[in-house]
Amino acid sequence: MLFTLAVVLYVFAILCEVSAAASFLSTLAEHPRQLLEESMDWLDAKYDPEAGYLYDLSAAAALRHDIRNSAWYAVGLLARNRDGDVQQATKIIKNVIRGQFKDPAKQWYGTYQKYPEEPPVGSVSYPPKIYDTWDPNWRGFVSTAFIIGLEEFGHLITPDITRLVQESIYNATVGDSYRVGGVDDDNLYPSYSNPALMRAFASSWTGKMFNDENMTRAGETYAKEIIDLFDRANTLSEFNSGTYTGVSIVALTTWAKYSPDTSIMKTKGVQMLQETWKMVGDLYHPQLKNLAGPWDRGYGFDMNKYFSIIAAHIWCLIGKSAAPVIDKVPMMSHSADFAISPLVAILSPFHDKLVPGTTVGSLQNFQGEHTVDTSAYSIPYDSYPRQITAWLDDNISIGGESFNESVIGGPAINPSQFNPAVIQWNTGNEVGFITLYATEPSINAIARPGSLNITYPLGNSSSTFQLLISPFRKKPEVSTWKDLQGLNIKVSGTIDPKYSVSSSFTDDAINDFMFWNFTYSMPPQSRLVPNILLEVELSGADSTRVS
Ligand SMILES: *[C@@H]1O[C@H](CO)[C@@H](O)[C@H](O)[C@H]1NC(C)=O
Ligand SMILES: *[C@@H]1O[C@H](CO)[C@@H](O)[C@H](O)[C@H]1NC(C)=O
Ligand SMILES: *[C@@H]1O[C@H](CO)[C@@H](O)[C@H](O)[C@H]1NC(C)=O
Ligand SMILES: *[C@@H]1O[C@H](CO)[C@@H](O)[C@H](O)[C@H]1NC(C)=O
Ligand SMILES: *[C@@H]1O[C@H](CO)[C@@H](O)[C@H](O)[C@H]1NC(C)=O
Ligand SMILES: *[C@@H]1O[C@H](CO)[C@@H](O)[C@H](O)[C@H]1NC(C)=O
Ligand SMILES: *[C@@H]1O[C@H](CO)[C@@H](O)[C@H](O)[C@H]1NC(C)=O
Repeated sequence: MLFTLAVVLYVFAILCEVSAAASFLSTLAEHPRQLLEESMDWLDAKYDPEAGYLYDLSAAAALRHDIRNSAWYAVGLLARNRDGDVQQATKIIKNVIRGQFKDPAKQWYGTYQKYPEEPPVGSVSYPPKIYDTWDPNWRGFVSTAFIIGLEEFGHLITPDITRLVQESIYNATVGDSYRVGGVDDDNLYPSYSNPALMRAFASSWTGKMFNDENMTRAGETYAKEIIDLFDRANTLSEFNSGTYTGVSIVALTTWAKYSPDTSIMKTKGVQMLQETWKMVGDLYHPQLKNLAGPWDRGYGFDMNKYFSIIAAHIWCLIGKSAAPVIDKVPMMSHSADFAISPLVAILSPFHDKLVPGTTVGSLQNFQGEHTVDTSAYSIPYDSYPRQITAWLDDNISIGGESFNESVIGGPAINPSQFNPAVIQWNTGNEVGFITLYATEPSINAIARPGSLNITYPLGNSSSTFQLLISPFRKKPEVSTWKDLQGLNIKVSGTIDPKYSVSSSFTDDAINDFMFWNFTYSMPPQSRLVPNILLEVELSGADSTRVS
């Protein structure tokens, strides 16, 4: 009798466990549930069940597979836990870890192959080139996903797989400790916010898990460096990036949710997350569905046309239709990043509660004309903190930053991502943009109501102002400022008033975006400091007024 009761209770407990597990998806609120379902449906269609990897999401890689996205998908499978999902997740996890580099003597130890078909890194045909043949950030991207998987869905996998994943996280953390900014072509400084946040967390969490005090201490010490940099102005050094602010928000959520109670990251993570969101709320323009400039790292010039990871967070907070995505998300540029959505959805119940109500409100409705005045500091690239100004009014935003850096194109040394001076507006048909292509290591770009004043303090008569301008649906050919739709502009400064107009249409687009290129030069032999002042006002789409 007692025995029977025990069996009944045992079976009941198992059933509860299974149904509790099966229902994670159904416990999600409507918006994150939709995000998880849509992203997983899309990934299902890219999955190669025979191989146990996702295909390369570009569908332009001759059926090669992709390791990082496969790891994210595996965690999504555990969250969904429908028939066969756990089995496939297990297969993927084993595959991903098989492709983790195992030789502690190598600089790439503990990171993961980019794709399983690649030759061995360091072989003659595949020389070891950081960010090329191997990616140091994949340690953080994969191990963070694995930690989320263990924390949330560890009960779904066998003890063997759990041990394997733990060992993999451990190796990734040890490998990550090899990284020193400025050494061996590495660039991991505390100012490289998104991987730095993941590194600090993974090291502290993993140290705790393995009782490795040295590893815990390394994570906590690194976290302190990031925190000191953040506390200066309550901003991430890698400032205002639709994509990477989204990653940093994932990382800060792991700080707050999974750090041991003894960790400095536990409470600091909450505060940094909230400050980061407040800044997003101030810079986000809900009528344009874009972050105002300047963008330290952007993968395009209009967030309605490329998938930014912050869009997934906004989706969870206020719903898909209000977020900067189109209905058919996979058609957006940079849509491979949609693969991170399962992680965003899984963290959403914890994360969304922490976002201040006023911030959520300002994502939904324009809070009215306002300015932003702040700074961000990327050591060792900046001589002094970058000064950031922005102005947002109905249907328009202007943003700029002033800095002196040791590189051109921001700390990522990439002018295609670094947009130090930006104007966006509603043309009546689309979001128009004017963005300065970075050609100088020092720029003063100051946004004021209706104006953007750009100066090159270290420039000379060879300097140029290359202004990249959006195409306009109703004006397929653009040859003067008069052709801009919905915006009047007045241009002045020390520049030669004659400008050249070219375009990207027969040449290379930048991050898939076509543009018109209005370039100003200095008068020959000019000794003046290069400066251009753009004064703008909305004109209504059909206006032909010229200033
Ligand atoms: C972890 O690294 C060690 C070498 O330090 C290696 O022997 C082991 O196979 C690695 N584990 C995994 C799961 O890759
Ligand atoms: C302690 O951690 C640091 C930083 O991660 C690492 O460089 C060092 O080798 C570790 N020492 C030991 C004894 O594990
Ligand atoms: C700008 O940076 C350069 C080095 O990159 C430095 O020599 C110069 O002093 C800096 N100027 C200012 C005003 O910070
Ligand atoms: C902003 O744009 C919308 C849509 O084009 C338009 O209806 C509205 O009148 C504009 N508002 C202002 C202040 O220009
Ligand atoms: C624009 O910047 C230049 C250079 O600093 C300055 O001389 C000028 O007064 C500024 N113009 C406005 C309108 O702020
Ligand atoms: C302007 O500065 C650039 C970069 O320092 C230099 O290469 C160029 O020769 C200078 N041009 C003139 C006309 O001085
Ligand atoms: C813009 O046009 C100028 C002048 O033709 C050219 O030198 C520059 O490379 C162009 N910039 C971009 C980003 O295409």
